[in-house]
Amino acid sequence: MVRTQLQKSYRSNAQSNPIFLRYFPRLTSAGRMLDLGCNLGPEVRYAGMHGWTVDACDVDAEAIAELNAFLAKNRVTNVFAARFSIQEYLKRTTRQYDLVHCWNVLHQLRQSDIPEVLKGIRDVIRPGGLAILRVFTKDDPTLSRVRKREHVYLFEVGEVLQYFPDYEVVEHFAGPIQDPGHPNRPRAHQHVVEQVVIHLPY
Ligand SMILES: C[S@@+](CC[C@H](N)C(=O)[O-])C[C@H]1O[C@@H](n2cnc3c(N)ncnc32)[C@H](O)[C@@H]1O
Repeated sequence: MVRTQLQKSYRSNAQSNPIFLRYFPRLTSAGRMLDLGCNLGPEVRYAGMHGWTVDACDVDAEAIAELNAFLAKNRVTNVFAARFSIQEYLKRTTRQYDLVHCWNVLHQLRQSDIPEVLKGIRDVIRPGGLAILRVFTKDDPTLSRVRKREHVYLFEVGEVLQYFPDYEVVEHFAGPIQDPGHPNRPRAHQHVVEQVVIHLPY
């Protein structure tokens, strides 16, 4: 897979997503989690260290190596983090998960891959499970500029939820957020996003 500049340039600030931290304690004491596009994987580390079995993938080999080095150093053995594309991972897996986390990732996929990936996410959530998803929307100021140079897929508000008609929407937000910054873009900046927490009833 040829990686775009956007895919190559990002480095996470290794701080866990606050929505994830808010929902995690309400979940089963030790379930199975999937993180798609985990980068350095702060949420992967957190869930792994809390006894969850975690699968995680990212196309960034260096980020995966750093994540695996952290896990090895801390003797966390219940996490499988690998350099895989989301598309490949979802095609191959037969597992189902109590929690799927895919945060700030899907804009980096090609538009033609979006339907299959969202259906794939829908199919790997087990009844009773939760998905925590955030995408960038068409009003995002930063990525609209990047889109002139390389492919970036910006979502319409409501587009993601169309793939999850049987799911209960536990939390929904669409609008601007402040990004505190990350190593490749240290200054705080704004994005315009849609974020959802959805639950598949039994
Ligand atoms: C903006 S970062 C977000 C990382 C992390 N989820 C977070 O919120 O900090 C996007 C991540 O998605 C990864 N990525 C992009 N396209 C991917 C793909 N097709 N399959 C797997 N990972 C991908 C990138 O390498 C990058 O680590």
